[in-house]
Amino acid sequence: MLRKVMRRGDFAVLIENVKGYPGWRVVGNIFYNQEAVKLALGVERLEEVGERLVGFAWRAPPKTLAEKLRSVSKLFELGRYTPKRVSRAVFTDNVVEKPIVRKVVPAFRQYPREPAPYLTYPLVIVKHPDSGVYTMSVYRVMVRDDGLVLHWQLHKRGQAAYRAWVENGADEMPAAIAISTDPATLLAGAFPVPYPIDKYLFAGILRGSPLPIYRLDNGVEVPANAEVVIEGFVTRRLVEEGPFGDHWGYYDKPVRRFPLMRVERVYYRSEPIYYGTVVGLPALEDAVIGKAVERISLPILRTIMPEIVDINLPPYGLFQGIAIVSIRKMYPGHGKKVMLGLWGLGMLSLTKILVVVDHDVNVHDINQVLWAIAANVDPQRDVVIVPAAHTDELDPATPTPGYGSKLGIDATRKLPEEYGGREWPRLVEEDAGLDEDVLRALREIGLG
Ligand SMILES: Cc1cc2nc3c(=O)[nH]c(=O)nc-3n(C[C@H](O)[C@H](O)[C@H](O)COP(=O)(O)O)c2cc1C
Repeated sequence: MLRKVMRRGDFAVLIENVKGYPGWRVVGNIFYNQEAVKLALGVERLEEVGERLVGFAWRAPPKTLAEKLRSVSKLFELGRYTPKRVSRAVFTDNVVEKPIVRKVVPAFRQYPREPAPYLTYPLVIVKHPDSGVYTMSVYRVMVRDDGLVLHWQLHKRGQAAYRAWVENGADEMPAAIAISTDPATLLAGAFPVPYPIDKYLFAGILRGSPLPIYRLDNGVEVPANAEVVIEGFVTRRLVEEGPFGDHWGYYDKPVRRFPLMRVERVYYRSEPIYYGTVVGLPALEDAVIGKAVERISLPILRTIMPEIVDINLPPYGLFQGIAIVSIRKMYPGHGKKVMLGLWGLGMLSLTKILVVVDHDVNVHDINQVLWAIAANVDPQRDVVIVPAAHTDELDPATPTPGYGSKLGIDATRKLPEEYGGREWPRLVEEDAGLDEDVLRALREIGLG
């Protein structure tokens, strides 16, 4: 049902009277389109959020006294978003000790061949053992009777924190899972924020106000406005996970084992709302979330690589599958320089196929992109294949999960150095200069 409604893209779903879970409600598709995301973040343009982020770090040095005072107040502004410890949290209304999670929480299966119910939009919370920096990320969680299986992929922060605990010799890592918080915090969980930026600070910036956090008995702090919280410890025991119907549109085979979290307790608010999403063949709710991340990231990306004009991660390109980026080209080889940069940058580094076009190609108009590829690419010169590279672990096409190849297509117009010393042909003009008689004649037949 969530899938059917989501493909319409115009409202969320609230399910009441959930069988077997008296008092619980299930909500889905809360990010049903970009307008819903903007409403949740209280902005008119999503890029505003990214601009707020870069505003802290990258600015010309202040020259005048007024500018200096303004930059000092900017630093205090950052303090306005740091998380705030509170002594009361709504989810402490009910506590179940040593629970079988599926008996308490209405986790569901998305597809018939999934072996167990899943938490599909949990915020998995762990603290790095050395720095104390928080990671709060959306990773699917398989619900078993003896614990929860945390599906953090190879390149993710949760995996890095876990590795650090294990390397430090710990038997277990304290962890928590928060379900159903405010929408900005939910989005922060899906946002690839580079370590060591604290995810709670980042959530505060997305929310526009500090995130209230509450300390659990295991020492982990969690968003105090969560409806449901699961407290426990991630063990060293690795178990099978999946197959799960993932966003590539396939059941991913259980290719790798993932750690089991033993659960100490589940907390939940009275009459709680459980938020679950459904992924699969595009375009579902995760596509809207991915697009929001793309828009918010653009100002950050442009600060790191100022030549970038725009980026499109098309939903049917599956986010890690295909990315199209436009650049203001300045020198020979510039298209390939941008490819190499992006293949080394955060989660964009997992992109399998990267297309670079000129600044005047609208990356969101696939026909314009196809034109640029068809007209500007000489495959021998402009196509790059990087063999044996890092890839998304779930990419079904790679022989080894997380390890495959990459394709880059430089569809920019070529400079003389790239074109045998010749000038690139001149683009045909649009009919800007139609004289008034022609325009009038077109108007008369309804084409004006
Ligand atoms: C609905 C949904 C499900 C996701 N499931 C997973 C998952 O199972 N494993 C994973 O590593 N990333 C998953 N992601 C992607 C992460 O949330 C994303 O990479 C984000 O950057 C958080 O990871 P990080 O904090 O480690 O960067 C999912 C994203 C969404 C929106």
